[in-house]
Amino acid sequence: MNVSEALRKGEAYLIDRGVPEPKANAEFLMAEMLGVGRLTAVSQGSRELTAKENHQFLDWLKWRGKRIPIAYILGHQPFLGIKIEVTRDSLVPRPETEELVIECERLVKASGAASPKILEIGTGTGCIAIALAQLLPSATIFATDLSKSALDLAQKNAIAHHVGNRIRFVREDLFSDKQGLRGWADLMVSNPPYIPTKDLDGLEPEVLKEPRMALDGGKDGLDAIRAITAMAPKMLKPGGVLAMEIGSKQGPAVTKLFAASGLKSIVIKKDAQGLERFAIGALPV
Ligand SMILES: C[S@@+](CC[C@H](N)C(=O)[O-])C[C@H]1O[C@@H](n2cnc3c(N)ncnc32)[C@H](O)[C@@H]1O
Repeated sequence: MNVSEALRKGEAYLIDRGVPEPKANAEFLMAEMLGVGRLTAVSQGSRELTAKENHQFLDWLKWRGKRIPIAYILGHQPFLGIKIEVTRDSLVPRPETEELVIECERLVKASGAASPKILEIGTGTGCIAIALAQLLPSATIFATDLSKSALDLAQKNAIAHHVGNRIRFVREDLFSDKQGLRGWADLMVSNPPYIPTKDLDGLEPEVLKEPRMALDGGKDGLDAIRAITAMAPKMLKPGGVLAMEIGSKQGPAVTKLFAASGLKSIVIKKDAQGLERFAIGALPV
């Protein structure tokens, strides 16, 4: 079978199984398998697949047909230009979280801190902490998660990207009180679980393959956000900043939580899709 035939069959297979964007998905998997870009893969239509390639492509299609996210099939996801290893123990890093990191880089640079201290809550694959360590070479980062397997993965990713010595990964419950880090952080950042429990079952099958603990924000979706916001004034230095990813309808509620915690200069920022996605506030100096 050649590339064109395999792509046609692959697309038809994914359509049958209700996979969104079946053509793009088939092309993406083909390109990954051939180790080339998507356009190049499509342009090689008459190239015959070896038996091994054919088998690999069919295998990946089968997984995709079961609505397994592509990142779990391939075992990695791009994040701000680096390859982050992912497993089913971790959330797949999202493009909007890349925007959060860029905003954090801007905030830290604007603060003028010479050796910034960053606290990340709920690190998952470690994508936020690792990208920040790379963007801010003088930063020291402390990253927590409750999931031991996610932390092991984050540590592995940090070592692979040569920032393992600058990030301390610690297993800690965000609902606990971090006495040791009082007044330590110039920046506290989190992409917490923020989906209301009752909305979880209505999510796309792909999202439901991700760890529930990474998604479930409790009854109103605000459990983790509430805890992190309450903790922030204790962990931040005067003038330190809290930056969080939030659900697109949570802006007004999160603004109130930030204000109740004593944070000032509160802003809710939109993501590239035009949805309210990031909450930022600073502890007064
Ligand atoms: C939405 S995911 C974010 C993962 C990663 N930072 C990212 O942006 O892709 C939320 C993370 O919070 C962690 N988490 C959930 N409940 C927690 C808790 N009680 N204490 C600490 N971490 C928790 C999950 O394990 C998960 O890794």
